[in-house]
Amino acid sequence: MARIHGTLSELVGDTPLLELHRIRRKWQVEARLIAKIEYLSPAGSIKDRTAWGIIREAERSGRLQPGDLLVDVTSGNTGIGLAAIAASRGYRSKFYLRNVISADKINILRQYGAEVVLIDNNEFLVPGALDIILQRIQDENPGAYFTDQRANPANAAIHAETTGPEIWRDTDGAVDVLVGAVGTGGTISGTGRYLKGLKPGLQVVVAEPSPDSVPSAEHPYAETIEGVHKVTEVDPQGLPANYDAGVVDATVAISVAEARATAQALAREEGLLAGTSGGAVLAAALAVARRPEHAGKTFVIVIPDSGERYLSPPVVPG
Ligand SMILES: Cc1ncc(COP(=O)(O)O)c(C=O)c1O
Repeated sequence: MARIHGTLSELVGDTPLLELHRIRRKWQVEARLIAKIEYLSPAGSIKDRTAWGIIREAERSGRLQPGDLLVDVTSGNTGIGLAAIAASRGYRSKFYLRNVISADKINILRQYGAEVVLIDNNEFLVPGALDIILQRIQDENPGAYFTDQRANPANAAIHAETTGPEIWRDTDGAVDVLVGAVGTGGTISGTGRYLKGLKPGLQVVVAEPSPDSVPSAEHPYAETIEGVHKVTEVDPQGLPANYDAGVVDATVAISVAEARATAQALAREEGLLAGTSGGAVLAAALAVARRPEHAGKTFVIVIPDSGERYLSPPVVPG
């Protein structure tokens, strides 16, 4: 029987799980480690789900009309997902990015026809930066649809509708620990809430960047785990509305160097080419899975995107 899809959005989600036997043996972990491979999505990251959730909701409410412009601030992947789905449905897109970002992501965005505006990194470091940038976006694009991935409830909702049920179905309910990272919080909040609803004892673990992997006034060009933010010891007012701290049981701080080394180990041991955040998530999972109380537990580790997105050096203003 033919299986031909009629629209790109039908290809979003339903990503596979792969058990990491070699990593488990090498790290001498007694827990089961299972990767959910989100780069196997049409535009290459978990953010395709977010993008589709947001666009679908805006279409349902009548907010989007053919030819409309979508705008947002993004560290790349949400923009890429939105740009791809927008292209496939006749919308235009424009994204504002920090000017220290993987060159590959910028090139991918442009290939989908999106307009890219780079914002000086230092502008992101002043107090209240995001509000100032968001105001600028609205002023510069009157009439555009601001997709607002940080606060748009369609973001966390699509993870409760798709990511969570897929993990439950594909592990046959065996999942005990969900490990991810937080950009907007959509993945962790939507998936975590759904799974805890079915298994209240399930644990949610978040990998967050170590303090030296976060840009600051002293180190504005510190290398970062792109797309991932700190959630502890930060001003709670600065956390995105899609992040539900109540769903998180533990956080593990991971440095950029550790994240890259773990992503490389994943590539060399299992043949899975994860991005830096996937390396961070796996490193956090290994730190927790090692504990004796987790012997025999099933960990599902969300790999947000592919390492192919980070092979070129980031563009740095010069
Ligand atoms: C590159 C990248 N994008 C996005 C995310 C997840 O983001 P969100 O919290 O917005 O679902 C992550 C974190 O897991 C990430 O690493």
